Amino acid sequence: TQALRLGIAGLGTVGGGVLDILARHEGLVAARAGRPVEVVAVSARSKGKDRGHDLSKLAWHDDPVKLAADPAVDVFIELMGGEGDPAKAAVETALKAGKHVITANKALLAHHGSALARLAEEKGVALNFEASVAGGIPIIKTIREGLAGNRVGKLFGIMNGTCNYILTKMANEGRSFADVLKEAQQLGYAEADPTFDVGGFDTAHKLAVLTSLAFGVQVNLKAIDIEGIEQITLDDIRQAGEMGYKIKLLGVAVASEQGIEQRVHPTLIPKGSPAADTDGVFNAVVVKGDFVGDLMLEGRGAGAHPTASAVLSDIVDIARGNFRPAFGIPAKELRPYKAAPQKAHEGG
Ligand code: NDP
Ligand code: HSE
Repeated sequence: TQALRLGIAGLGTVGGGVLDILARHEGLVAARAGRPVEVVAVSARSKGKDRGHDLSKLAWHDDPVKLAADPAVDVFIELMGGEGDPAKAAVETALKAGKHVITANKALLAHHGSALARLAEEKGVALNFEASVAGGIPIIKTIREGLAGNRVGKLFGIMNGTCNYILTKMANEGRSFADVLKEAQQLGYAEADPTFDVGGFDTAHKLAVLTSLAFGVQVNLKAIDIEGIEQITLDDIRQAGEMGYKIKLLGVAVASEQGIEQRVHPTLIPKGSPAADTDGVFNAVVVKGDFVGDLMLEGRGAGAHPTASAVLSDIVDIARGNFRPAFGIPAKELRPYKAAPQKAHEGG
C-alpha cells in the first residue's frame, strides 16, 4: 500500500509533538490509518535548530508556501499559527493544489474558515482542524459527527488552557498573574503573543469555530463580545472563593429564534459544579443537543502531546478517506450569521 505523505510546516510545540507521536506509535498509526504514514517534508523558521528529531532525510523548505506546493506531499499540516500569511497563503496553496490540509490554527479559521472550507470542497479535499479547539478534546468530531442527529441550542466552556492555568494557580497557590503566565509560556501552552490568551481572543477564535459547526452558520468572529482575564486580581479570586465560587474564562454561544449570541468573559461558577472542577491546563466544553441533552467533554486543552493527539486523529481520518465538510455541512449551505439582540451577561 502507498504511504500517506505528510508535509509539516511548523516544528514548535505542536509540530514537535506530532513528530513524537509518529515516532513512538508508527505501527499503531499505520494500523489505524490502513497504510504507512510518513513525514516527507518540513518547514520552520530556523533550519539549524536542534528539535530532538533526525530531520536529515526529509526535504526542508525555508518557505512554507513552497512546502504546500511540493508534489511529494499528500497532506499539508499547518502548525505555525497566525491569522495571515504565511499560514493563510500556505493553506490556500495546498488546497488549490488538491492537497488535504490539517491545521491547529484557530486564528486562521476564525478569520477565513468559511472561505477555506469552500475552497477545500471545490477541490474535493479535507480541511481538518481537530486540534484547533480545546487541545486534546475531540470536540470538533463530537459536534460534527457524534451530534449529527441533534439541533444544538447552546454551547459553552473553558477553552483556553493558559487562562485556566493562570486562574487555577492564582487561586490555589496565591501566585501572581505575571508569574504564572510566564510558566504557562515555558510549558508551551500560550500563544506566540500571549495577549491572545489573556485578552480572551483565543477563546473567541475557538468559539467562532464551534458556533459555525454547531449552528450551521458562517464563521463570525466580529460578532463576539470579548473580555479577558487581565483585570482579575488575587483579591477577586479570594472573594469569589469565600462566596463559594471559582472564576473561569468562558466562551458561550446561544442560538434562538432571535439569532445567535456569542460572548467571552470571566464568569463566577459555583464550586463543585463540573466546569468549576476543571482546573489547570484542562478545558471543558458543554454542548446542549435537543435529543442527546447535555454533554460535557473535559481534557487537556493545550500542550504538545494532547494537541498533537488531535492532529493524529485528523491524519488517520484522511488516510482512511473519512472526511466531511469542514463545518459539518457544505460551506455554501452555511446560513448567514444573524446576531441576537444584546442581553446582559449571564453565566453558562
Ligand atoms: P510554536 O511557536 O511553538 O511553533 C511555531 C512553529 O512555526 C515553529 O517551528 C516556527 O519555526 C514555525 N514558524 C513560525 N513562523 C514561521 C514562518 N513564517 N515560516 C516558517 N515557519 C514558521 O507554536 P505552537 O506549536 O504552540 O502552535 C502552533 C499552532 O498550533 C498555532 O496555530 C497555535 O495556536 C496552535 N495550537 C497550539 C497549542 C499549544 O498548546 N501550543 C494547542 C492548540 C493549538 P522555528 O521553530 O524555527 O521558530
Ligand atoms: N494558547 C492556547 C491555550 C493553546 O492556552 O489554550 C491551545 O489552543
